[in-house]
Amino acid sequence: MKVLGILGSPRIGGNSDLLLDRALAGAKEAGANVEKFVLDRMRIAGCKDCQKCNETGVCAIKDDMADIAGRILEAQAVIHACPVYFWTMTAQMKAYLDRWCVFFDADWRWHKSVYPKMRGKRIGLLTVCGDPNPHTGDPIVSVFKNTAEMTKLTWLGAVQAAAAAKGDIAGNKKALQEAFELGKKAATP
Ligand SMILES: Cc1cc2nc3c(=O)[nH]c(=O)nc-3n(C[C@H](O)[C@H](O)[C@H](O)COP(=O)(O)O)c2cc1C
Repeated sequence: MKVLGILGSPRIGGNSDLLLDRALAGAKEAGANVEKFVLDRMRIAGCKDCQKCNETGVCAIKDDMADIAGRILEAQAVIHACPVYFWTMTAQMKAYLDRWCVFFDADWRWHKSVYPKMRGKRIGLLTVCGDPNPHTGDPIVSVFKNTAEMTKLTWLGAVQAAAAAKGDIAGNKKALQEAFELGKKAATP
């Protein structure tokens, strides 16, 4: 069992990062091998809608997304963590998600080359916002939930927390515990 963590915040040691680490600790406790990608440290360009991948199953852009896409295929679960930037996800997370096009055919179904590996894969989300209302992260939840529904991925759920300054989330024991449980769920057969 392999569980992947995808960090959409550029703030290392920040709130999303700490939540993601708790989720991956939960997955590890449940017996998974875990790996974390920090999108801000990678080169991931925006999708160009050239649609070449619809035919070939391979993205025409040669950057670090090829590595992540390969790891996603190998993993049983992918947990994303992202802060709210201007009521939505960060640019890093959006560029990454748009590049998921590489997994689809022209009808937005899994490309035949990845279908056996993507079918039913587990996907989860952690959001953090500076606003005291954690539901400020709802637009990000909608994006990931809609993606899961469209593709019949297994939705693990979302943990939504409010925290503004770097590391403030450390005082939110409830959110940290929920993230840990989500990670455990991701790795439990
Ligand atoms: C460019 C930028 C835009 C932001 N926009 C919002 C926002 O629209 N709503 C909100 O509640 N917080 C907003 N925030 C605050 C972050 O969501 C908050 O500081 C969060 O804890 C950052 O998480 P991180 O430590 O994982 O990076 C913004 C922060 C930045 C840097």
